[in-house]
Amino acid sequence: MEVKIAKTAFDVHPIIKNRWSARSFSEKPMTDEVIKTIIEAGHWMFSAMNEQPWRFIYAKKNTPAFDLILSSLAHGNAIWAKNAGAFVVSIVKTDFDKEGNPFNAWAEHDMGAANAGMILQASTMDIYAHPMAGFKPEIIKEYYNLPDNLKPFVVNAFGYLDEPQKLEEPFLTRETTARSRKNLEEIILFQE
Ligand SMILES: Cc1cc2nc3c(=O)[nH]c(=O)nc-3n(C[C@H](O)[C@H](O)[C@H](O)COP(=O)(O)O)c2cc1C
Repeated sequence: MEVKIAKTAFDVHPIIKNRWSARSFSEKPMTDEVIKTIIEAGHWMFSAMNEQPWRFIYAKKNTPAFDLILSSLAHGNAIWAKNAGAFVVSIVKTDFDKEGNPFNAWAEHDMGAANAGMILQASTMDIYAHPMAGFKPEIIKEYYNLPDNLKPFVVNAFGYLDEPQKLEEPFLTRETTARSRKNLEEIILFQE
């Protein structure tokens, strides 16, 4: 959708410019192969000491797990996310595998990198993603009986794109409004 394409100052690759956090998903089902391809892409991202502190739970639409994850979402997310083809919960493993290293300070960074890897891979497959922090992690933690070192961090809605017109307000407006970013001058603190 033209309005969503990033207006960049420099010649950024289309895979970055064309992605957005979509809200309108079609009925086209997502297969296990497609979902695992996306997850494997995330799994090949970089991590401190190659610790790979990311774990995933996924649920295709029309499954009990999908409904459970949907029930964990904030109302403002559930309204449109119910049409996703699948949810992928990104879980951060907060400790190192090696005993005696109780806290991995880089785990959240690395899980975020894996999330970005998944979302960009999905973009190459005409699949859109919407990461969400608006959910209750305790619902997922309890249902799957996750130990304390595995923290559900983000729920990603994935799916093929549909017309924005099927959304109700305020989501229709959000879906059809240009994306924005701070100017580069604001985020590059020093340069020489
Ligand atoms: C960690 C994280 C949490 C987010 N949580 C939500 C959310 O709960 N609901 C929502 O609608 N969008 C959520 N978003 C999407 C952001 O609002 C979105 O990425 C941002 O506005 C930039 O828009 P763009 O991704 O379309 O470029 C989240 C994004 C991230 C990375």
